[in-house]
Amino acid sequence: MDKEKFYITTAIPYMNAKLHLGQIYEFILADVVARFNRLSGKDIFFLTGADEHGQKINKSAEERGVAPQEYVDEMVKDMKRLLKLYSISNDSYIRTTDKKHEKIVQNILIKLKDNGDLYKSTYEGEYCVPCETFLLDSQLVDGKCPQCNREVELVKEENYFFKLSEYKDRLIKHIETNPDFVIPETRKNEVLGVLKQGLKDISVSRTAVKWGVPIPFDSGHYCYVWVDALINYISALGYSSDDTGLFNRYWPADQHHIGKDILKFHAIIWPAMLMSLGVELPKHIVVHGWLLMGEEKLSKSKGITLDPDEQLDRYGVDGIRYFLVREVSFGQDGSFTHQAFVRRYNSDLSNDIGNLVSRTLAMIDKYRNGIIPEKVSSPVFEKKWAKIKGEVIKHIGDFKFSDYLIKVWEFINMANKYIEDNQPWSLVKSESEDDRKRLDAVLYEVAEVIRLSAILLIPFMPSICQKIFSQLGISEDIDEIIVDKDGVWGKFEGGTKIGKREILFPRVDEK
Ligand code: ME8
Repeated sequence: MDKEKFYITTAIPYMNAKLHLGQIYEFILADVVARFNRLSGKDIFFLTGADEHGQKINKSAEERGVAPQEYVDEMVKDMKRLLKLYSISNDSYIRTTDKKHEKIVQNILIKLKDNGDLYKSTYEGEYCVPCETFLLDSQLVDGKCPQCNREVELVKEENYFFKLSEYKDRLIKHIETNPDFVIPETRKNEVLGVLKQGLKDISVSRTAVKWGVPIPFDSGHYCYVWVDALINYISALGYSSDDTGLFNRYWPADQHHIGKDILKFHAIIWPAMLMSLGVELPKHIVVHGWLLMGEEKLSKSKGITLDPDEQLDRYGVDGIRYFLVREVSFGQDGSFTHQAFVRRYNSDLSNDIGNLVSRTLAMIDKYRNGIIPEKVSSPVFEKKWAKIKGEVIKHIGDFKFSDYLIKVWEFINMANKYIEDNQPWSLVKSESEDDRKRLDAVLYEVAEVIRLSAILLIPFMPSICQKIFSQLGISEDIDEIIVDKDGVWGKFEGGTKIGKREILFPRVDEK
């Protein structure tokens, strides 16, 4: 049977500086959803990439005294390195300086013009370079950008405009008839509020900024970086190219993951462009909040960053991934603090799951020569497992990652309690046959709980789950695991020799 497809994207970050943890937070959220759907047996296409054009990047390259292409090549290399270190499982990576992408942007500009949606006029107004955003006087706060609080530049030039204003009614209708087009609801209401105030046409070309895709029908004009960037979601699939296989298979996107600051671009401008092209709209725009350091938003342009390399060295990838999804309620802003991290890490990871794995394997090693005892059925655990499997699917669908993890932790702690209640260390001393059997059963049951919990934790902590598997003596690659096939009680055969034991989450000292 043909697998159900699932196309998921992140925003493509500007390549004007090294990534910070806020941008990585977005990759982690999308990665959790992508990996969960992969685990559910779907055919996933997970896209991320790099936004490489525009004034901001041009400026950064100039400051460094290198050509913009050379500059972005270096930045992209670093981004790809970080994606790997953070276990991001993207299937493809789009660069807006790819020739293929640039050609598709040009095809689209021609189509928009042929449809009568582009016209030439003079733009005069304020522009914020760090945000690459045109602003109305009424939007300025003390003459500065409302988003980043930086000085704006007065721009006056001949531009092509897109007739965004004509799409207002269709956009409102689409959002009202598809109430989960924008998730969460507060963000949907925000978009409706903006739409109801009315839309102005937007400038889609620049002449002053030459680091961009040339407008194919007017030399000296270059595509506005946001229009270029939004197109990545379909150019990566080959839309309007000579190979549209991926586009036909995966479009429309199931989920575009973005931060709240770029909501209007995704929920207003992008759908209007697609309407003009006659292309189906994405199914969901999924909007997360900001990762803060104390009270402040992480921001490259303001220099408030949490360096992703430093955090990795200090806390390890799985700890960070776990903390961010467990601690930050989806859709809301959340703060990364050392204290909160250490508390969460030591209690959930070192104590609950870390201890369960280490003491279970130590007992199997010591009492049973490292061989997993024969499988047994276990009505109590089996019933709980069936319930949890059903519940977590719903929680992922609602982006309630903490609730998902809480459910898995109930299972983990049920096993911890089971060990305490059954006291294998006393059973092993007994001469009775019943007690020996009981000990085998307990050890098998707990090992099976560990295996099943690890399956459900793959989306969150992929590399630790791979380690748990190998410590249990399972050689399968976590990317091959399918929950319906492998997440079944008793699938773990007895008689397996456990692998090398090592501490999964060494305790972190709060100081
Ligand atoms: O906006 N916390 O790029 P970008 C959480 N190139 N998310 C954050 C964040 C924070 N502190 N800071 C940034 C752009 N983000 C465009 C996107 S898409 C066609 C073009 C999120 O590098 C931000 O909301 O400024 C966005 O979703 C992503 O990181 C990239 O931000």
